[in-house]
Amino acid sequence: MRYSNIVVLTGAGISAESGIKTFRDQHGLWENHAIEDVATPEGFAANPALVHRFYNARRAQLLDPALKPNAAHLALAQLEQHHCAAGGQFLLITQNVDNLHQRAGSKRMIAMHGQLQQVKCVQSGRSQPWTGPLSPSEPCSCCTPTQPLRPDIVWFGEMPYQMEQIEQALRQADLFMAIGTSGQVYPAAGFAAVAAASGAYTVELNLAATRGEFAAGLYGPASKVVPQFITQLLNP
Ligand code: APR
Repeated sequence: MRYSNIVVLTGAGISAESGIKTFRDQHGLWENHAIEDVATPEGFAANPALVHRFYNARRAQLLDPALKPNAAHLALAQLEQHHCAAGGQFLLITQNVDNLHQRAGSKRMIAMHGQLQQVKCVQSGRSQPWTGPLSPSEPCSCCTPTQPLRPDIVWFGEMPYQMEQIEQALRQADLFMAIGTSGQVYPAAGFAAVAAASGAYTVELNLAATRGEFAAGLYGPASKVVPQFITQLLNP
């Protein structure tokens, strides 16, 4: 393997072929909802029931037996396993809040925008696993008096998780891959430039080219182009 420190960023496009809607493609998730109503702290404060309904529907989809990781998720888990076994460094950063990378076997990963199957106390921020529907009246178990629970999702205007660890990994990477992301939401949209500034080779794997600056691009469905690229990486 010609690279020693691989950092991967994924977005909604990697889960599209598994059946999870992206955000900005036609008929995407944001088409039916105003972002400010369902993905901001202000929207949650104004109408918690609407926000719970939005996330309960997305969380319920994860329990659908038909929903499975696709070949792109599986190829990334295989890359991590082989590369780390050979002594390499690997970090998967996902913007996605589904559980498909975890189900595919990815271990060294950061879910920077949170996870649908986690909820947290609005007061303490303590997070806990949650696979069923959440109602506005569900009490936390960490505060007295009890406080409401909210989806453990990073909303617009909130700080994504583990940014220091992410920035350190980007500075040390010699290969950066961006998969299935439109590159329209910061800070993730700036990760390729940070990696490139530290000397990493940057590759975009997406259905179509975005406005992002990359050293190379491989375009097509993730379930095709990601396994293809990873096979080349593992068999130089
Ligand atoms: N294979 C590869 N790429 C695909 C596929 C596919 N089958 N289908 C769609 N794509 C690409 C689209 O071309 C697009 O560039 O995936 C990208 C999806 O972009 P978005 O819908 O904007 O999703 P994402 O980039 O993950 O959004 C980032 O924005 O709304 C916030 O928090 C939300 O995490 C999300 C963030």
